[in-house]
Amino acid sequence: MLNDRSSLLSLLETRRSAKPRSLAGPGPGSEDLERILAIAARTPDHGKLHPWRFVVVDESQRDALACLLHEALSAEDESATAAHHKKEGEFAHYGGTLVVLVSAPVPNHKIPVWEQELSCGAAGMNLLLGAAALGYDGGWVTGWRTYSPRVTAAFCEPGERIAGFVFIGRTAAELDERPRPALDDVVRHWLAPS
Ligand SMILES: Cc1cc2nc3c(=O)[nH]c(=O)nc-3n(C[C@H](O)[C@H](O)[C@H](O)COP(=O)(O)O)c2cc1C
Repeated sequence: MLNDRSSLLSLLETRRSAKPRSLAGPGPGSEDLERILAIAARTPDHGKLHPWRFVVVDESQRDALACLLHEALSAEDESATAAHHKKEGEFAHYGGTLVVLVSAPVPNHKIPVWEQELSCGAAGMNLLLGAAALGYDGGWVTGWRTYSPRVTAAFCEPGERIAGFVFIGRTAAELDERPRPALDDVVRHWLAPS
């Protein structure tokens, strides 16, 4: 639990994603989960539209999620093999708590949809940060299911789309670091056009 500024800096400077398939339960209990979701909802949002939602898939619904993924895969990918189906069954039963991040932009609004989608991405980042701050590991994954019309219909209202599946739990092993971009590659100082 973070209780001072150096802990906050340390969290921001060292947080890493976990691979959802490597997560074990238990995920956050209801009190921790509510706190994580409140942190995620505390996200910059031009126009106060909160153009995103969090759909928690409780443990009791994981078998139903597996059925949905099998049905969608069979209907949408003729070439899907038993191995693909096995992977979906495993995905639906990954350890920890599953939160489906839904992008819910308000159409025909003066705030462009692009800005609303950026806010959704920020909410996803805050979800990972909130989880890390409470001592959990988290991972955000997408894949074909994110774009499947059948899976989308099961989680979204018309006009909404799945932004990702975020699993929050704990990993037994130390998380691997990944290469980070050199600041020189991603930072520029703007020069006025001459
Ligand atoms: C929008 C989005 C989609 C992602 N989809 C996947 C995915 O399908 N599979 C995967 O292994 N990781 C996925 N990731 C996670 C990244 O591959 C990787 O774990 C992450 O960038 C690690 O960065 P971090 O350690 O700074 O959190 C996704 C991340 C984002 C933001």
